[in-house]
Amino acid sequence: MDDWTGNLSPEVIAAGLHTEIIGQRVVYFRRIPSTNDEAVRLALDNIPEGTLVIADEQTAGKGRMGRRWLAPPGTSLLFSIVFYPRLDPTQVHRLTMLCSLAVADAISESTGLPARIKWPNDLLIHGKKVGGLLTEAGIQGGRLLYAIVGIGVNVNLDPEVLGRPLTPATSLSHEIGSSVDRLALLRSILRSVDRRYRMLREGWSPRAEWAARLDTLGQRLRLAGRHGVLEGLALDVDEDGALLLKLAGGEVRRVLVGDVTTHLAPETEDQAG
Ligand code: BTN
Repeated sequence: MDDWTGNLSPEVIAAGLHTEIIGQRVVYFRRIPSTNDEAVRLALDNIPEGTLVIADEQTAGKGRMGRRWLAPPGTSLLFSIVFYPRLDPTQVHRLTMLCSLAVADAISESTGLPARIKWPNDLLIHGKKVGGLLTEAGIQGGRLLYAIVGIGVNVNLDPEVLGRPLTPATSLSHEIGSSVDRLALLRSILRSVDRRYRMLREGWSPRAEWAARLDTLGQRLRLAGRHGVLEGLALDVDEDGALLLKLAGGEVRRVLVGDVTTHLAPETEDQAG
């Protein structure tokens, strides 16, 4: 296994990166409560766009829906990226979409594993969760001031140490049977985020590629979230990452934030509505 603190100083990460925006500045912590919280603090201080906040260990790592993100020290990629995008607050999920595509591509390139995405922002290998994204937006007077995309990837760990999470978990090393070079994976993710973010700024939409990577479409789902519990057939996603869910009565509901708790057994056409 690589020696994180020895090999991944900010200088080492930045040196071979060759990006234009992402990772031009690197803020590294051996141990920190949460890289997302630190990135929010730095964004409020106007740190340059693309700053990477990365840690070897989080003592209060945050997952979606108020959950904790657990990772033994030195086993994972735990980082956050600061963006100041020219997007409406309703479009902020486009950043999550492009970053999840970047992570999926980098995993597939580095390991040959078939990385997929579970709506809205889980990374899966063979149906098990290998990573997740948590985007936090700063909004004032209806304007998006900053967006922080936090990314956690289980790289070199035994999934048993994570206990019994809601979604069965895995790690890259567990899937390929040998340890994975975290520095190479990190660089590959950052390069892909950089390329895609520059494309987004030129008007590119991540929707089509993201939809193609999603494991969720065509499945019957139960979603639990602020909207209560919804069941239906996942038809498609829109430009802002919202899921278009066909309910039993035939109504198509646009769901932006939810939690796919269950993939239901397929039903006959008419039962699905
Ligand atoms: C999820 O799947 O629930 C999202 C997990 C996001 C975890 C990452 S780890 C780096 C960053 N800092 C945090 O506190 N959380 C994100």
